[in-house]
Amino acid sequence: MTALGPAGEAVARAYPNIALVKYWGKRDENLILPVAGSISITLDRFATVTRVRPVPGLTADQFHLNGSTMTGEPAMRVSRFLDLVRYSCGRTDCAQVESVNGGPTAAGLASSASGFAALTVAAAAAYGLDATARTLSRLARRGSGSACRSIFGGFVEWHAGGGMGTAGDIASFAEPIPAALDIAVVIAVADSNRKAVSSRRAMRHTAATSPYFTAWRDTATADLAPLRTAVRLGDLDRAGEIAEANMLAMHAAILAARPAIRYLSPVSLLVLDRIRELREQGTSVYATADAGPNVAALCAPDDAGAVAAALEMVPGVRTVHTSGVGPGATALDPHFIDLPDERGTR
Ligand code: PMV
Repeated sequence: MTALGPAGEAVARAYPNIALVKYWGKRDENLILPVAGSISITLDRFATVTRVRPVPGLTADQFHLNGSTMTGEPAMRVSRFLDLVRYSCGRTDCAQVESVNGGPTAAGLASSASGFAALTVAAAAAYGLDATARTLSRLARRGSGSACRSIFGGFVEWHAGGGMGTAGDIASFAEPIPAALDIAVVIAVADSNRKAVSSRRAMRHTAATSPYFTAWRDTATADLAPLRTAVRLGDLDRAGEIAEANMLAMHAAILAARPAIRYLSPVSLLVLDRIRELREQGTSVYATADAGPNVAALCAPDDAGAVAAALEMVPGVRTVHTSGVGPGATALDPHFIDLPDERGTR
């Protein structure tokens, strides 16, 4: 899984994932232990490619995203994550990190999942951490919860795991689940700008103030077994029904927080209506949406063209992208990968 370049630098690619049973709420903020399990599909579009280059004598980590030098919270999150990797393998040297996102950053298209999954694999390779896929998944979880699922391709379940502290940390990882579901994900982008409230903050706020938070946690837990079965049997209608209901329950809990947080926009609601109409006209298509206004339609690959054409016509939809089921995070040969430079021109 590892490929090392000159001076121990490494490059990795990972794809975002979209959850059918969502992760929303932590029981431990520091270890990122969720209140419930979740199940996702890894996409085959919008990859993040990340290069990590440890530099002897460098006194602080440097982070470039899409050709821009990052400071503040995004840079600190990367640096704190690298500290975990360095701590695990007894290294202290800081690194230069360059990352390029193939999709809109922080707009509800799970760029944090692909970002931290790619960073995990590249940093582990660059620092010489000998880790199993499960350990990489647990490590990615510490960067951004949903990133633990992007370590794997296909359909992936993140186990909440029991307990707190080290026991919880060891038990909470993602792994692929058996799947016979042929599915396409058609994403209607309503807004590709950075979202106003980060999922991290909104999750904490929902858990602290929403009267529906416990009901949400119980709903998510109860949705796991039937969704797992529907995925294993290839039952698109059952999987779609569970995913759409689960997404609406998550947004209901977020809306009920005080003060309310609302991620779905008027355009999102028009897309949800259009998806329901297509279903009434006989197409098996279902909606999901993460912490942002963009809506993803789940349908059979043969229907993806017609669904995409219908969603493109919804007023306010900017772009529509069709994705299949994608692979897990992998190391790439650093000699053949050319990331853009600071000006994004290379
Ligand atoms: O991993 P985070 O902190 O970006 O949270 C992701 C939360 C959702 O995307 C809304 C749901 C999920 O399971 O991916």
